[in-house]
Amino acid sequence: MSDFEGKTVLVGVTGCIAAYKSCEIVRALQKAGAKVQVVMTEHATEFVGPATFRALTREPVGVGLFDDPSDPIHHISLAKLADVFLIAPATANVVDKLAKGIADDLLTTTALATTAQLVIAPAMNVNMWRNEEVQKSVAELEAKGARIVNPTEGYLACGDEGEGKLADVDEIVAATLDELRSRRSLAGKSMLITSGPTYEPIDPVRFIGNKSSGLTGVLLAQEAARRGANVTLVIGPNSLKDPLGVDVKHVTTALEMFEASKVAFEGCDVAIFSAAVADFRPATVADTKIKKRDLRADSSTGELGLTIELVENPDILRTLAANKGSRFVVGYAAETVDLIDNAKEKLAKKNADLIVANDVSSPELGFGTEKNRVFFVREDSVEDSGIVSKREIARQLLDIIAEAI
Ligand code: CTP
Repeated sequence: MSDFEGKTVLVGVTGCIAAYKSCEIVRALQKAGAKVQVVMTEHATEFVGPATFRALTREPVGVGLFDDPSDPIHHISLAKLADVFLIAPATANVVDKLAKGIADDLLTTTALATTAQLVIAPAMNVNMWRNEEVQKSVAELEAKGARIVNPTEGYLACGDEGEGKLADVDEIVAATLDELRSRRSLAGKSMLITSGPTYEPIDPVRFIGNKSSGLTGVLLAQEAARRGANVTLVIGPNSLKDPLGVDVKHVTTALEMFEASKVAFEGCDVAIFSAAVADFRPATVADTKIKKRDLRADSSTGELGLTIELVENPDILRTLAANKGSRFVVGYAAETVDLIDNAKEKLAKKNADLIVANDVSSPELGFGTEKNRVFFVREDSVEDSGIVSKREIARQLLDIIAEAI
């Protein structure tokens, strides 16, 4: 029996020259064992007729909101039958409408009404794809939990060259099946995720901090929530939007992060410590701003000197994991040499089940970059993520966790 027996993919087709590729997508999903039904926009029918999809799926094909006299509320029944709603190709118009919650035809009302996972594969002219409004809509959809299969570069139907070409059929099908597989895989599980930097105050206006953006934890929280987990995200200062459907605890210092994490750790099944916690904090915090006039100058150079005494912060991961019970605990390791050996050492020292090891010596990967490469290090195995997006790394980690628990 296929993994996808009894699962339904609703395929949405919109008005784009790449609509003919939806036929191949439908076929491939069926071959994998999924049931497929199709909904189209009016414009899509200019490119491929509903009869084609009817023949391929042996199911009725929805186009108009009021087309089916036997089904009084067609968009709701379609919304309910889907486990995953794949929209491929998705035009700029449909991407924008979905982001803004506009529902003015069968496809967009169904998208708004469904609780199924949305997978969206945009296709359009390169300048439309690069348009700020379209990019904003794509980012909004992603933040709301949709999975975006980005278009690729190539020769476009309009004659332009560049990004905008519908992603490869194989990639779209793989992303859809991946969502079918992982859907609800963490349902009922409680998860603590720490993320971001901590700021350790020196005086009321200065602090010791680090470059962490908090993105890793936010992506993990979004992906875990999409898989049905109850997520508490304890996050240091950052400029990201809070992920939807996640209990976000904002903290500033390592001590605050420790306190908030302790509470969430109590009731969790999985804890992921991705925060870049400051190892040290100033021993005392000045009540008022430190003024230069109060500092002493070096007798030979005349330069002012300021000495700040630091004390160690608690190691949140190590302290909590020491009594982890049956919880699955994940830590992170940023290394510049001996990546795997150092990660294995950290695994044992911190009593973690898995360390996500990251080689930060490579300038193209890591801090502030789009892509990354990590190794998932466990006592008896090491898995390479490959060079992929940070969101993909989050997905891979959660797949490993879902299988392990
Ligand atoms: N960590 C933590 N609390 C701290 C320090 C680190 O929870 N006070 C967690 C991080 O969230 C991460 C892991 O521990 O999961 C990183 O381990 P750490 O020993 O801090 O790594 P490094 O700072 O790289 O250690 P070293 O300098 O010894 O390599």
